[in-house]
Amino acid sequence: MSFKFPTPSEIPTEYSISQIHQRQYLIDGELRVWNGNMVSVSSPIFYSESGKNSQVQIGSYPAFGTTEALEALASCEKAYDGGSGIWPRSTIEDRIKAIQKFTNLMIKERDLIIKLLMWEIGKTLKDSAKEFDRTIEYINDTINALKEGDRSSSRFVFEKGILAQIKRAPYGIVLCMGPFNYPLNETFCTLIPALAMGNTVLFKPAKFGVLLLEPLLKCFQEAFPKGVINTLYGDGATVVTPIMETGKVDVFAFIGSSTTANIIAKKHPRLNRLRSVLGLNAKNPAIILEDCDLDKAIPEILSGSLSFNGQRCTALKIIFVPQKIAENFLKKYLDALSAWKAGMPWEKDVMLTPLPEDGKTKWLTELMSDAIAKGAKIQNEGGGIVNESFMFPAVLYPISKNSRLYNEEQFGPLVPIVPYNDIDETIKYVKESNLGQQASIFGKNPKIIGMLTDILVNQVARVNINTQCQRGPDSFPFTGRKDSADGTLSVTDALRVFSIRSLVAAKDDEESKQIFREILESKSSSFISTHFIL
Ligand code: G3H
Repeated sequence: MSFKFPTPSEIPTEYSISQIHQRQYLIDGELRVWNGNMVSVSSPIFYSESGKNSQVQIGSYPAFGTTEALEALASCEKAYDGGSGIWPRSTIEDRIKAIQKFTNLMIKERDLIIKLLMWEIGKTLKDSAKEFDRTIEYINDTINALKEGDRSSSRFVFEKGILAQIKRAPYGIVLCMGPFNYPLNETFCTLIPALAMGNTVLFKPAKFGVLLLEPLLKCFQEAFPKGVINTLYGDGATVVTPIMETGKVDVFAFIGSSTTANIIAKKHPRLNRLRSVLGLNAKNPAIILEDCDLDKAIPEILSGSLSFNGQRCTALKIIFVPQKIAENFLKKYLDALSAWKAGMPWEKDVMLTPLPEDGKTKWLTELMSDAIAKGAKIQNEGGGIVNESFMFPAVLYPISKNSRLYNEEQFGPLVPIVPYNDIDETIKYVKESNLGQQASIFGKNPKIIGMLTDILVNQVARVNINTQCQRGPDSFPFTGRKDSADGTLSVTDALRVFSIRSLVAAKDDEESKQIFREILESKSSSFISTHFIL
């Protein structure tokens, strides 16, 4: 079993890449040119030439210092202007127009962005296209939710002698940081709602998937008023720390590890001012029941555990199998896995690809060795074999409770399988875990499924029955308990988390009504308005 990287001539012309040295950055509505230090971008893909592998260098981006980071913050502050800026005072209709303009410009960059997703994070062509299209769909759904919200808040309410109009208003400055596994989709799932609600945004791209945002800088510039969106590049400690220390960030939107989230949030001197919207670690279990229809369940469990090489926060990261059916389960899982093709992201039907994180295969090998030292065996031929950034998935069984893989989130192609004799062992695992995003149950017995569901819904934020864990559909609430999340995201929830309900109220008497009538007729306020979007 071996994995080979391609020679340069084996790259299909339509997917070959020229280096992108991205010197432009967006501050105060200007696309400025960076002349300072640059951060090099290496692809997870290597070229194999004359028996040697060399990592493909695909470009670079600016390494901001503290000065530029604070300039970006100042631009955000100026555009928000304590709520008097054009953007926070604009109507929902005007914001929708800007977002639509941006979306139309973004669609033109689809092919380039998909190609960069493949080269920067090793995501397959099919999944990269899906990420792009899902993002566009998310933006369109957000626009519809905005219209709906605008319609329902356009009326006045009369209650106990008070008349009022209740709407949602922006918080102020939002710092948006997305994850490398969905550098476009998950970043935009916070960025777009934050903008839509009238906030101004400091946008720091994920650690991988930075170059793919380059084609979008001019789209942002064209679509939004100046200073409404500003980009931050470079090392987190250098650029994020000084910004947080000013205490001027109102919302911290971050998808990544809880350790990083805590380090960043703690820099803020006024924690009561800071709202956090966090998507963090997860170790979602798959609980297989004795009567599980394995032929139906295995494709779902395989995809749940290994799609995008297990690099999804929602991936099934530990599998509990009844001891009695473990042998049969393993056989069927391994059969299904053997049909999965490894290769380059653009190859037809490829499922397993190189990993973007430097040193990741070494770290995963350590986790695997620890599990083996504690009694597990690699069940599949070639499991765990590494070539540079690529690792063949390793199916490890039986995982003991004292191995690191039992609790640590692998976020990669390791599949830990734990045998159990009593369902209480799985419940104990979930209760004792510090993480609580989702769980999946695979089986038929309604009594056991019902009992498990009642316990699990109080431990995790979504219980999936005979399906893998996942975020979608995006209209569903996406959140987690314990250390897995703070705040809820969905198309409508995201609009809520980036805004606060604010109201204008007056005595329900003729004098107040006359003032409101005149404001409405003269259109002197965008907040006090009964106009709504059709
Ligand atoms: O990485 C975490 C993502 O939100 C997972 O989304 O379940 O659609 O892959 P997904």
